[in-house]
Formats: sequence, structure tokens, C-alpha cells
Amino acid sequence: RSLHSAATRGASNISRRGYASEPGPERKVAVLGAAGGIGQPLSLLMKLNPLVSSLSLYDIAGTPGVAADVSHINTRSKVVGYQGEEELGKALEGADVVIIPAGVPRKPGMTRDDLFNINAGIVKALCTAISKYCPHALVNMISNPVNSTVPIAAEIFKKAGTYDEKRLFGVTTLDVVRAKTFYAGKANVPVDGVNVPVVGGHAGITILPLFSQATPKANLDDDIIKALTKRTQEGGTEVVEAKAGKGSATLSMAYAGALFADACLKGLNGVPDVVECSFVQSTVTELPFFASKVRLGKNGVEEVLGLGALSDFEQQGLESLKGELKSSIEKGIKFANQ
Ligand code: NAD
Ligand code: LMR
Repeated sequence: RSLHSAATRGASNISRRGYASEPGPERKVAVLGAAGGIGQPLSLLMKLNPLVSSLSLYDIAGTPGVAADVSHINTRSKVVGYQGEEELGKALEGADVVIIPAGVPRKPGMTRDDLFNINAGIVKALCTAISKYCPHALVNMISNPVNSTVPIAAEIFKKAGTYDEKRLFGVTTLDVVRAKTFYAGKANVPVDGVNVPVVGGHAGITILPLFSQATPKANLDDDIIKALTKRTQEGGTEVVEAKAGKGSATLSMAYAGALFADACLKGLNGVPDVVECSFVQSTVTELPFFASKVRLGKNGVEEVLGLGALSDFEQQGLESLKGELKSSIEKGIKFANQ
């Protein structure tokens, strides 16, 4: 409900500037991997978003059925399904936002990096097509390992001469969603009003929730903060283990992906003060990519915000995540340039 009403608020903010009956500018959103575990519920949620006028659902298989199904929902956007590489160009042409949940998910015992060998190639091919068919789109990268797939995308775009660091985002919203949920539970506050920035990257210890900056404030003991941090870092694994071989987070990820795409659309549409955490090109630390709060605007990233004051525990967490994050970034860059 809050996603829908947030999106509706966005739309009404925009229409107030024009004619009351205007639904907002035309916006095409493409979902690559739309028939998958994330792709299907994400496509549903994007169909519910009134900021979307055209919804393009692409996968290597299964998209006609998903598109037919979703297209019957009586909301603004027109839905078209595209299947197979030969239809990828049409799926992408004119897209304002491209969301990529294409690729294999983890099974118990695997790290996100174990997905690299398969997903790196998928992301490379999809980004090559993006640079050809919709080079100005905002790219929302969900496929894991995000710490490497975002640098891969950047390198592919650089090679094609289309790279714009303001338009490439690693989606880390699920970490924020989890941190908010877990914090609200321990702080015993209504989850609706909770904010927790999550910085760093999107794997294990590279996920660094900043509970010292969480609002509303709650004086939680250090051991509770430590446990909350660990649970946020291991949130993905918690779901992978509970699904026992049947994949990783799909429903909560679809929700998080829809929230982040909605923020991108609002930014594009000129809604002020849209701030979300995302893994982007960054000078916040010495690492070339880093997740932090980002202000979104008409060209994508308007401003990468700094980390703010960190507790000693968070400062230690920041120092200890840098080695792993650096090597994941370098691995992606190396792969793309092979
Ligand atoms: P899934 O296997 O259910 O779905 C993946 C879909 O991608 C399938 O429909 C498949 O046909 C499609 N696909 C494969 N190759 C493709 C290609 N070349 N072009 C287009 N589509 C292609 O997996 P899932 O559970 O939806 O997870 C997808 C990815 O998202 C995984 O890599 C997973 O690790 C990642 N993920 C990321 C986050 C995050 O927070 N960023 C959260 C959850 C999952
Ligand atoms: C998550 O955080 O749920 C995703 O990155 C999927 C995973 O493999 O944990």
C-alpha cells in the first residue's frame, strides 16, 4: 500500500505542476529477466506504478505469458513482452529506466561471488545492448554479485562510449528495507517512519548499515546493534537457507527494486529531494564504487552524499569492508576488459 500510495503521491506532485488530469510524462521502463523469481513480481509492481506509461518485459524465455497476464491489470501502462535476443533491441528502445534482475540466484552454501561466472556474461551482453539501444537510460542493476556487475556495466558502457556515471546504479535497496524492518523490531517503533542508511556494497561484510544514524533514535545496546548489523549483512543468506535450494529473495527484492525504480522515475520527473542509498561511482571513499545516500534528479545521480558521522563500530566496519569490495570491483573491471 505504501509503495502504491508513494508512487501516487509522486504522480500527483507532478500533475499539480501541469493540468490536473495529466498523468505525468511518458516513461518507458524495461525489465530484463522479467519472467524470473524477481522479474515477475517486479513487473507486477511496476504495472501498479502510475509513473510508468510503457512497460517492456524481456527475458530469454517465458515473457509472453508474464506480459499477457500483467497486461490485463487496469492501470496506466501498456505492457509488451519480448522474448529472446533478437527482440532485445525492441525491448530496450526508448527506455528511460532499465531494471536488470537477469541471472542465476544463490543456493545454500554459495556466496554471491560464486554467481560471477554465469552472471558476469549475462550482464555484459545486456549492457552491450543497452549502450546500443537506450544509451541514456538509468540502469538499475539487481543481478549479483552487484559489487562486480556494476563495474562490469561501467566498463562495457565506457568501451561503447556511452558511459555516464550518473545513470548507473547498483540496487542495494533491499539492504535498507531489511535494516529498517530489523531495527523497527528491536527499537519497538512503527516501521513506517524508520530510516536507516546502508553503505558500502551488497555482499556480506561489505553491507554496512549505519544504525547510529537510524531514525527515530533508540538507545539500543552495543550488542543489539552488533546483532542487527550481522542480521542485515546476512539477510540474503537467511532467505537462501530458508528457501533451501529454491533460490534467493524474490518478493522482498521485487518490492525493493520497485521502490528504487520509483525513486529514479520521480527524480527524472523533477520531484525534489528524492534520496535513496545506491551503489554508484563514488569519491566518498578511495574506492571507485561505493553505496551511500544519493540524491536523484532529472539526469540520474544529482549528488552522492557523504557518510556522515560514524560510530567506532561502523568506522571499523568501513575499514574492514574495503579489501573485499576493492577486489570485487577489480574482478568486474578485469572481466569486462578481457
Ligand atoms: P531467477 O532464476 O528466478 O530469474 C532470473 C531470470 O533471468 C530467469 O527468468 C532467466 O530466464 C533470466 N535470464 C537469464 N539469462 C538472461 C539473459 N541473458 N537475458 C535476460 N534474462 C535472462 O533468479 P532471481 O531469483 O530472479 O534472481 C535474479 C538475480 O538477482 C540473481 O543474480 C540474484 O542473485 C539477484 N538478486 C539480487 C538482489 C539484490 O539485492 N541486488 C536481491 C535478490 C536477488
Ligand atoms: C539478497 O541480498 O537477498 C540478494 O543479494 C540475494 C542473495 O544471494 O542473497
